[in-house]
Amino acid sequence: MVDILLGLQWGDEGKGKIVDVLAPNYEVVARFQGGPNAGHTLEFDGIKHVLHQIPSGVFRKDCSNVIGNGVVLDPVIFKKEIDSLTEKFGMDLTGNLVISTKASIIIPTHRLLDAAQEKAKGKDKIGSTLKGIGPTYTDKVGRRGLRVGDILSSSFKEKYRNLVEIHSQQLDYLNYEIEGLEEVEKIFFEACEFLKTFKITETEYEINEHLSKGKKVLAEGAQGSLLDIDFGSYPFVTSSSTTASGVCAGLGVAPGKIGEVYGIFKAYCTRVGSGPFPTELEDATGELMRKEGNEFGATTGRPRRCGWLDIPALKYTVMLNGVTQLVMMKADVLNIFKELEVCTGYELADGSTTDQMPFDICDIKVTPIYETVKGWNCSLEGITDFNELPAELKDYVSYIEKKVGVKITYVSTSPDRTATIRR
Ligand code: GDP
Ligand code: IMO
Ligand code: MG
Repeated sequence: MVDILLGLQWGDEGKGKIVDVLAPNYEVVARFQGGPNAGHTLEFDGIKHVLHQIPSGVFRKDCSNVIGNGVVLDPVIFKKEIDSLTEKFGMDLTGNLVISTKASIIIPTHRLLDAAQEKAKGKDKIGSTLKGIGPTYTDKVGRRGLRVGDILSSSFKEKYRNLVEIHSQQLDYLNYEIEGLEEVEKIFFEACEFLKTFKITETEYEINEHLSKGKKVLAEGAQGSLLDIDFGSYPFVTSSSTTASGVCAGLGVAPGKIGEVYGIFKAYCTRVGSGPFPTELEDATGELMRKEGNEFGATTGRPRRCGWLDIPALKYTVMLNGVTQLVMMKADVLNIFKELEVCTGYELADGSTTDQMPFDICDIKVTPIYETVKGWNCSLEGITDFNELPAELKDYVSYIEKKVGVKITYVSTSPDRTATIRR
């Protein structure tokens, strides 16, 4: 079966940590969408490491890792990531990292287009990570993109030039000057050669072969469900299907092969980049959460916006993904609070209330309706048994379960791999 682990909020829920924790139970860990916009942090043995495109199973030696067809891959960032894993950990991943021939390639002008389009949007900018994600998916859907398998073809450079020609026209239209492209292209083509030293294949066959042998696959989501291209706060979203349905299209597995869906969420909320965030705290409390939670982007270093837990949003993404188990992260960040607020609904401008995500959430004012619950207000350090958690935290867990209708089976209490309490 293919189990899925994905984020239920606006990203950075702690997916990397939990994939690393669960990976020993799986033979394969696979990324199905997104690209270097992701930053997945793993901490163990006093080491902290951030992965961007490489699946978070790489630190478990019996685990194969797959970059699926739904991913957009930047060869230059890929090489940097691999080099860093080799330097820091002496790892050789050529044997247990497989890349889909059908994954899309991010080329240097995609990044320029990302920057040019954001600049042109002015104050309405998405707050993109500027990794070229939107322009690359645009070319994929526009049926002119380059795919990893193309690197192996003798006509790759010609295909590349044709695409750059289109990008030049687009950049020209946006009045965006291209500077120093030749140097960047040299690095890009070197990185493409490096990519060729890895196994590039039809990963849909590989994964289905694993499944037919009864092996277990974990699909690792990137971004969060509220950044999904269809269901997120459009247009302030990423350009891929971040929800469970993205797994079938992004890996080539049939819906009937999907098993558990682990939905991961923070005990509060964060968002990085622009877009609506009903429970955002633009005050000292939000600042405190940022400090306690070290809420700074793993990819861009930008401060993350912080706010209380949003139940309507969580219920929505639990529904969209068919979540079977919930994983609650960063409970420890709320240790400092005597009381917690939880948003249970929204009040709209006309005074009506709803517990659903309004279609026009980007254009209207929604005021969260809060319920206050007791905080635990003590350290969680050293607790390894769910039953030993403070009563107020167990109450918080039950409260969320009741509102959302799914069991919380893991509670995370620090960035380290070992601080993961299984219920
Ligand atoms: P991802 O993108 O979903 O993998 O998450 P990120 O790595 O971008 O952000 C999660 C951050 O929270 C990282 O810095 C993690 O090390 C950290 N983290 C994960 N779990 C916990 C936890 O339980 N407590 C605390 N304090 N930090 C955590
Ligand atoms: P992980 O996997 C948090 C946000 C950006 C921006 C919007 C679009 O680490 O959870 P893009 O670069 O995709 O065009 O940006 O989506 N965003 C993320 N926010 N975590 C991420 O990934 C994100 N990937 C993209 O900040 O608002
Ligand atoms: Mg992240």
